[in-house]
Amino acid sequence: MTSTKQNLNGSLNTGFASDNIEGASPEVIDAIVNCNSGQQTPYGADEYTVRVEQKLCDIFETEVSVFLVPTGSAANALCLSTLTPPWGSVLCHPESHINNDECGAPEFFTNGAKLVCIDGDNAKIDLQILQQKARNKVGDVHSVQPSVVSITQATETGSIYSIDEIRAIGDVCRESGLRLHMDGARFANALVALGCSPADMTWRAGVDALSFGATKNGVLAAEAIVLFDRTLAEEMGYRRKRAGHLLSKMRFLSSQIDAYLSNGLWLNNAKQANLMAARLATGLAEIEGVELQNATDANIIFCKLPEAVIAGLLDQGFRFYHDRWGKNVIRLVTTFASQPEEIDHFISATKRLLV
Ligand SMILES: Cc1ncc(COP(=O)(O)O)c(C=O)c1O
Repeated sequence: MTSTKQNLNGSLNTGFASDNIEGASPEVIDAIVNCNSGQQTPYGADEYTVRVEQKLCDIFETEVSVFLVPTGSAANALCLSTLTPPWGSVLCHPESHINNDECGAPEFFTNGAKLVCIDGDNAKIDLQILQQKARNKVGDVHSVQPSVVSITQATETGSIYSIDEIRAIGDVCRESGLRLHMDGARFANALVALGCSPADMTWRAGVDALSFGATKNGVLAAEAIVLFDRTLAEEMGYRRKRAGHLLSKMRFLSSQIDAYLSNGLWLNNAKQANLMAARLATGLAEIEGVELQNATDANIIFCKLPEAVIAGLLDQGFRFYHDRWGKNVIRLVTTFASQPEEIDHFISATKRLLV
């Protein structure tokens, strides 16, 4: 794993707030610099974009249509806009990023489709509730029409849908005439945790469109919309341009994804983040007074600590979100650049504050 470390003053990093606190993998920065020389055809007809499209076809073992955009919110909102009419509904978990953290972009890009929340444990959509809601008021002119299900893999709380769970959701979608979108902001973290193929985790289980995340896992700013249903591609082309997301110098996005998909960087980065989360969870589980709140499937940990310990950790410069998911519950996110000594530093500091 190539790391972006060190801090300027040589000290250990103390941030666990998000995967976005890191810079980018050096390979990605090198790729951006290297693609700078010479001329390339603009608007995505450059050699880097063509290569990325081919790589994603190879990775997913099928012909896919690819549209690069700079943010995950754009990828999600654009995907959803091709999967529902304005009078449709997007069935999603209440914890989902599209529901909480995209400032209404899904509603805006879909011309007002409604987000309908479907609860479930561990930030995963409950299948039984979905089965009911998928047919809710179909044909009733007074109601929005169920149109698309959006699942997040890995979820916002770091849990992971098994292949069987995705397939079961895909089956409900097919039986009810709904589309299936996957928000894969942490796609690689889920993939390496499951140890399955990208095809099995997506189109073979019924996914029509994927927001293939890369920024959280070592890229500077680039995400790929991957369409398994290629009939959506023509509309997506117009929608991306209309949304202002068709970059003229596309090579600067595609060179990032090209490097990300080369030499296993995307998988190695995700493995590092997950490994560091497992190390952190194991260390914290051994401390009396720490209550882990979730199984550590990917790179996100929730734990409950005494208020004074949280204050003490913040005082020492550690950074994380707290009290958003419950009183005295903190969220710790490890990253592709997290290092064992930083994890151990946090564990030791917690231990010292609890004795
Ligand atoms: C689950 C999920 N989806 C999508 C995104 C993409 O967000 P952004 O628009 O900031 O790239 C994020 C980032 O926090 C996320 O956690």
